[in-house]
Amino acid sequence: MHLRLFLLLIAVFILIITERTPRIYRLITQIHGSTNTCPFQISNQSITPLENTKHFLVSAYMDQRVRGYDIRIISIFRRDLIQTLYCLFCCHLSNTTPATVSVHSDHFGFPFSATDVMCQIPPNCEATHVTLLTQPDGVEVSNQRWLPLKNKKTSREEEKTFQFDFTVCISTLYGEYNNVLQFAQTLEMYRLLGVGRVVIYNNSAGPELNRLLKTYSEEGLVEMVEWPIHKHLNPSHGWLFSKHGGDLQYYGQLVTLNDCIYRSMVRSRYVLLNDIDEIIMPYQHDNLKSMMDMLQQQHPDVGSMFHIESHVFPYKFFTKGKDTPLPRWRGVPGFNILERIVREDPDKKIFHPLIKKYFTPSAEQTSVHYVLKMFGQKYKVPMDICRLVHCPTVPQNERLLSQHKDTRLLDFKDKVIDE
Ligand SMILES: *[C@@H]1O[C@H](CO)[C@@H](O)[C@H](O)[C@H]1NC(C)=O
Ligand SMILES: *[C@@H]1O[C@H](CO)[C@@H](O)[C@H](O)[C@H]1NC(C)=O
Repeated sequence: MHLRLFLLLIAVFILIITERTPRIYRLITQIHGSTNTCPFQISNQSITPLENTKHFLVSAYMDQRVRGYDIRIISIFRRDLIQTLYCLFCCHLSNTTPATVSVHSDHFGFPFSATDVMCQIPPNCEATHVTLLTQPDGVEVSNQRWLPLKNKKTSREEEKTFQFDFTVCISTLYGEYNNVLQFAQTLEMYRLLGVGRVVIYNNSAGPELNRLLKTYSEEGLVEMVEWPIHKHLNPSHGWLFSKHGGDLQYYGQLVTLNDCIYRSMVRSRYVLLNDIDEIIMPYQHDNLKSMMDMLQQQHPDVGSMFHIESHVFPYKFFTKGKDTPLPRWRGVPGFNILERIVREDPDKKIFHPLIKKYFTPSAEQTSVHYVLKMFGQKYKVPMDICRLVHCPTVPQNERLLSQHKDTRLLDFKDKVIDE
């Protein structure tokens, strides 16, 4: 089994290396000459089908870090149907400039892939919305759906102040997931560690979890983004096309993580990418802020890419509720993460390339476990300072790794139970 996984990984990496150079397509940015081309239909959906194509648009962000471009449209493109496209902006002047479609290199073989469309806004255009056309002109624009341009500069950004220190991006919630106790404990743990916002892309959740998440989002810790990907595509339940089939990897996990980074980058100092069964846990500090203050001071040259090593706290050592600390937790669906007190050494031989997680304001395109393109240096945080605590919800294959008692989660027990 281990050998198979290893070979699989090698195959994926060869795929990634051979496809690493993004295919570049020239596009023409085009501006219509009069104000009556401004949005008729502004998309209010998180997934917008692109008129006359098989592609989908997710969000458009101002992004001037790459020379020559002003906006980045996070999208889902069918890789075999890439075509010339034209950016159309809503503004008063008319002009054309070249732009680029960049299909992310790690699509794991699926027909659809996370894609960035980069456009340049011509001079003197106060653009507010954007859409893409399949022809430079002669297209019936009234059918187009327009995306609002997000992340436009505000005075807050110029002052370099942030609404949140830390945002956690949780990739897609699907399959009527209903592990309420785990969710509530993990969200409280994030809060204790200093996380100000948790963004959750919601395809479906169980009834009790829906109620819990509604409460948290009314209160402001959680931001729910509707993600009805199954209405547009056949999302895969797995990560590898040849094994799991479907149109798009893991319910579009790579698309949602990329969207979340851009959604968060102007309002949050750090962005953490992890699943709900994972906690980025400082081992020498009480919270993420004091840890990051120290790391930033020690490593001023790091462009904010901090990799954290993942450690599994295996399923087999936990009592599945027999030691529930509070009677009122009985009957709540899900399991108690505070029972996870045995940590395995990371399996470096097999999972090494996939064990890194990071804080990512400087990521340009992200993959699940590493960043494809980035600005600035990265730094691997030593594990006595920080570990990614991973508490899987199902038993894994038996692995012959050393185990250690690790009660770090219990340091937060009283506060988590108080909430
Ligand atoms: C989006 O807009 C359409 C038409 O304006 C409306 O019917 C629909 O309820 C809106 N959906 C959301 C999620 O706001
Ligand atoms: C999650 O998505 C489902 C399906 O659209 C919806 O019924 C549910 O209300 C959503 N939950 C929350 C907390 O927004």
